[in-house]
Amino acid sequence: MIRSVVRGFGSALPKRVLTNQEMESKVDTTDEWIVQRTGIRQRYIADESETTASLGEAAARAALDNAGLTPDDIDLIILATSTPDNTFPASAVDIQNRLGMKHGAAFDIQAVCTGFVYAMSTADLYIRGGMAKRVLVIGAETFSRILDWNDRTTCVLFGDGAGAVVLEAQEGQGTAGDRGILTSHLRSDGSHKDKLYVNGGPSTTGQAGFIHMEGREVFKYAVGMITDVVYDALAATALEVEDIDWLVPHQANIRIIEGSARKLGIPMEKVVVTVDQHGNTSAASIPLALAAAAGDGRIKEGDIVLLEAMGGGFTWGSVLLRW
Ligand code: COA
Repeated sequence: MIRSVVRGFGSALPKRVLTNQEMESKVDTTDEWIVQRTGIRQRYIADESETTASLGEAAARAALDNAGLTPDDIDLIILATSTPDNTFPASAVDIQNRLGMKHGAAFDIQAVCTGFVYAMSTADLYIRGGMAKRVLVIGAETFSRILDWNDRTTCVLFGDGAGAVVLEAQEGQGTAGDRGILTSHLRSDGSHKDKLYVNGGPSTTGQAGFIHMEGREVFKYAVGMITDVVYDALAATALEVEDIDWLVPHQANIRIIEGSARKLGIPMEKVVVTVDQHGNTSAASIPLALAAAAGDGRIKEGDIVLLEAMGGGFTWGSVLLRW
């Protein structure tokens, strides 16, 4: 059976760091409030020269280098983003062009903070269906551009960045001992669409708009939704919670991460946390965290890695893979 195996990973962050202390001079907030409620200490903010496509390109190049591959070896690019450079074309084709690729195909996927999980699941289907051999899966965001910098309830939470992996078709035995994606589970429920949304768009206001969020409402649903899709992944593979070597969650808030880990019975030593450094980078947060933990040697070949996310929509999902 064909499996989608992670062959390389990479990430890119804007040059500028914005600390909580600097935030204090922008809005009525404190470092203490932000750290206590969210775990965030700093975030990276794109300057005028940095965009979703440029950050995505940098992460893609790093992932290709890590894999020992060139753009010629890739036949599909899937970019998860809610902050594309333009309404159209997809920023994925911009990245394709920046990489000098004229072959293959490229498209964007939009599932807000669950975007990277949706993109990995989609790439896996293309690979297992025989339509692609190597897929560049990217999560890239510039949420700073859709933040209302006068709204302290949202502007302290988000940051910019990008991460990428190269998925490659490899033969497996069809068992949980295989390397690669073992199972993925996607969910959405649009009845929650007004709890976390951007108040603009091409067919309504003609403007990009700004983020609005009912933080408490999002919090209320997050842990339950996340743990549901984790249980689905374990049931589908007959793996146990104890088999998970690394939980790599979407990095929205340390309290959601800790709450989910506690409910699942996963010790925090097995959880990759970057929210303190990056803030919430939406679809970029999981590949950024993967690149950090694989880059410093925590995640090793053969490890069972569980990705999970929940975000606007609501959307939520999980991907269970062997590194
Ligand atoms: N600095 C200081 N005070 C702030 C603040 C800030 N940046 N933002 C809000 N406050 C204030 C509020 O105005 C409120 O004041 P009041 O009691 O005088 O009205 C108080 O802090 C509590 O606000 P509340 O919204 O109830 O706080 P909370 O404990 O729910 O924490 C979040 C707010 C956003 C951190 C929390 O709800 C959360 O993490 N939600 C999930 C959000 C998330 O992760 N979304 C992304 C999912 S992909």
